[in-house]
Amino acid sequence: MIPVCEPLLTGKELEYVSDCLKTNWISSAGKYIAEFEKGLAAYCGAKYGIATTSGTTALHLALAALGIGKGDEVIIPTFTMAACAFSVIYTGAKPVLVDSEPETWNMDVTRIERKITPRTKAIMPVHIYGHPCDMDPIMDIARKHRLYVVEDAAEAHGATYKGKMVGGIGDVGCFSFYANKIITTGEGGMIVTNDEKLADRARRLKDQAFSRERRFLHTELGFNYRMTNVQAAIGLAQLENIDRLVEMRRKNASIYNRLLKGVPGITPPVEKKWAKNVYWMYSVVIENEFGMSRDDLMAFLRQKGVDTRTFFFPMHVQPAFKNMGLFEGESYPVSEQLAVKGLYLPSGSGLTEQQISTVCEAVKQARKPQGK
Ligand SMILES: Cc1ncc(COP(=O)(O)O)c(C=O)c1O
Repeated sequence: MIPVCEPLLTGKELEYVSDCLKTNWISSAGKYIAEFEKGLAAYCGAKYGIATTSGTTALHLALAALGIGKGDEVIIPTFTMAACAFSVIYTGAKPVLVDSEPETWNMDVTRIERKITPRTKAIMPVHIYGHPCDMDPIMDIARKHRLYVVEDAAEAHGATYKGKMVGGIGDVGCFSFYANKIITTGEGGMIVTNDEKLADRARRLKDQAFSRERRFLHTELGFNYRMTNVQAAIGLAQLENIDRLVEMRRKNASIYNRLLKGVPGITPPVEKKWAKNVYWMYSVVIENEFGMSRDDLMAFLRQKGVDTRTFFFPMHVQPAFKNMGLFEGESYPVSEQLAVKGLYLPSGSGLTEQQISTVCEAVKQARKPQGK
């Protein structure tokens, strides 16, 4: 089976992890944490990095450190991973949804302003599948209405918007390092920011909110979202190779684009003029013209030894949120269509040209001319 994604651990991961084990620095203190935090922050053009246990906890920590809580609203795309909505709900705030625009599948910036109320505190743009959101209008809306911008760059390490690294554009950027991400620590996350106060607060909250004056004295609710030195050791080794890992993803996408060009009914991922897409997942939309439904294509590919995944279910159709009385009667047609028609093909950085060619051949075999 050609897997959808596998990590590529071909740098100094083993050397750095062995160092942790040999020196007993296996918990959340140790040199790799600070080096990884500094390194990723600098890569994003930010001053501070705060490592966490996952992308989900990075989002929650960012919102909590901004003081977002009960009675507040945070605008998020409906077409995203559930962690975005979960993290808002963990703080006691309410997620408010915006549909995607049909080309990049990111939050439609023209639909944000009408969702702003006196309770809105932040906008959370998510750089879906590695393509950056159109950040200038988002930043303009946020400034006009005095809102925070919490970028979710979990899927977009190394993507740029008008030359600026994503994650470093908003007030705070959040990353995931789950094993399928462009750089991984197994599980893990990080927030990056230029705001010293916010960084300090996030650092304290993630470490049980210990009081500075007196350990084991707590003046507010804290979390244990500490990444271990062992995870950071893997992360640092990955970060040393990030440019190569991003280039591999981009090269794989260009091979896919070439081999699938002209296959009717397949809409490939785009790259807007102002964007560098890192193609975290090589994602395509299967239109009726293809002659086979998305689900049938996935089953066909599985038989041929090719693993795939569907696009996200939008937040407004998730039973978890319906059961909380959220998003009742709301409808977002673009994301609903994407959920039915979208899939991603094998996308790991280490894919060979031969594997991509096998995948594309299988896709072409599946295609039936309409009416047959
Ligand atoms: C857009 C987005 N945000 C947040 C997350 C959550 O990250 P994690 O799985 O590390 O908690 C993911 C995970 O895949 C994601 O795709």
